[in-house]
Amino acid sequence: MAGSIKILAGNSNLPLAEAIAAHVGEPLTRCAVKRFADMEVFVEIQENVRGRDTFIVQSTSFPTNDNLMELLIMIDALRRASAHRITTVVPYFGYARQDRKAGGRTPISAKLVANLIVRAGADRVLTVDLHAGQIQGFFDIPTDNLFAAPAMVRDIKERNVDADLMVVSPDVGGVVRARALAKRVDAPLAIVDKRRERAGDSEVMNIIGDVAGRDCVLVDDIVDSGGTLCNAADALLAKGAKSVSAYITHGVLSGGAVARIASSRLKELVLTDTIKPTEAVRVARNIRVVTVAPLIGEAIARITREESVSSLFD
Ligand code: R5P
Repeated sequence: MAGSIKILAGNSNLPLAEAIAAHVGEPLTRCAVKRFADMEVFVEIQENVRGRDTFIVQSTSFPTNDNLMELLIMIDALRRASAHRITTVVPYFGYARQDRKAGGRTPISAKLVANLIVRAGADRVLTVDLHAGQIQGFFDIPTDNLFAAPAMVRDIKERNVDADLMVVSPDVGGVVRARALAKRVDAPLAIVDKRRERAGDSEVMNIIGDVAGRDCVLVDDIVDSGGTLCNAADALLAKGAKSVSAYITHGVLSGGAVARIASSRLKELVLTDTIKPTEAVRVARNIRVVTVAPLIGEAIARITREESVSSLFD
């Protein structure tokens, strides 16, 4: 295996790319991903990749469009350099929430982005906790959707030995994800059901399940503004929950989200590093980051050896 793999990194999440490369046992391939004076992206791969099994690590997180363009141009550079196979490792797949026509005359941007990646020349996609599993079908190339759940389950079990756990989905859409995690940590499930009875009325949060006296663990794929999370935490505490923490795969954390979470009543928010944590995240009093580098590294090693990736989750 050693020597045949080439792992390249765009600028979106260099620490994660380095940790993945260390797990695989290969140094990152030398590659310049720069900007011209007018901010056009320029890529130069500085090692021979002819005939190699290549992996580009690049999350399409903020600045989403720049990071996406870097990814596309890196694929093009590898294809023109005669790489044998190009796997795009996209730990956080941006635009995933635009996966259907939300109204008349609106785009399906997740499908457009998938088309761009495929048309640029990618042979495979490796990603983590896609917002909706069916987005895999937007790519007409093999797509592996890894689950961060095993890393979360390990952390929850280690840190909550004496807790009276209850796993909570912060909205009805996340029930399948939360139920799977509840099963793995052997805890009951509750659901926050957000409703607006009439247009103009304020949103009511009903809790399905008895959370009184419980140590609640909210589970979701994305935290963006932090609104869903902080409102759910308040609703659970109002119903008598003993504590509320959260495990969320992708820390998008736009605008004032970190400050909002730091000043919320959340005991702790645990994120993964699919998106590079900002300095604000690193110093926040109640945010902690667990890494998915070993998970992605192992998946890359298995793809290279043509071994099963799904059995990582058996
Ligand atoms: C929605 O479907 C997602 O799973 C998250 O719940 C949502 O993106 C969180 O957004 P925010 O943090 O802005 O409430």
